[in-house]
Amino acid sequence: MRRFGLIFGGLALAAAVITGLGTGYAQAQGAFADVIAARQAGFKAAGGNMGAIKKVLDAGGDLTTVATNAQEISDWAKKIPMMFPTGSGPESGVKTAALPEIWVSKGDFEKAAAALGVEADKLMVALKANDKAAATAAFGATGGTCGACHRTFRAKT
Ligand code: HEC
Repeated sequence: MRRFGLIFGGLALAAAVITGLGTGYAQAQGAFADVIAARQAGFKAAGGNMGAIKKVLDAGGDLTTVATNAQEISDWAKKIPMMFPTGSGPESGVKTAALPEIWVSKGDFEKAAAALGVEADKLMVALKANDKAAATAAFGATGGTCGACHRTFRAKT
């Protein structure tokens, strides 16, 4: 009987541990789900800002009206590094296009984010000056930094 008691006790303990681990896992996943959703929304907004700028560029409109869109991209670029905490890659169990390479080459990833900030700032200056030639060049350079980072650090979808 004592033996059964030990076995049952052990099983109860194991069940408790498994339940506890399950809860911990769910919480960890939940925590990363938020940051992953937030960064995907941030990138989506950056895409929207690029689209808004392109529309006015293509239409030959007043570029000063979309200078704030470039400002938003620049602000977002500064936030990118903190939107990728360790554990928020594919191993989080959350759907994400972030590649493990981000955490392997963290320095390069942060440089890629900084490059976006630099180009978005140039774009903002050109838009504020309503300088179409400079804005067109800066727009291309900004888009280039998006693509450069995606090539190395984002999964193809
Ligand atoms: C420093 C690297 C980096 C830069 C720079 C960068 N991206 Fe991304 N982008 C990523 C990564 C990584 C993801 C995947 C995020 C995820 O799924 O968790 C992503 C995802 C996206 C997405 C998909 C978001 C979604 O809904 O899931 C869009 C759109 C996007 N980026 C647009 C842009 C645009 C536009 C720029 C430039 C203005 C840009 N990105 C610059 C790394 C970058």
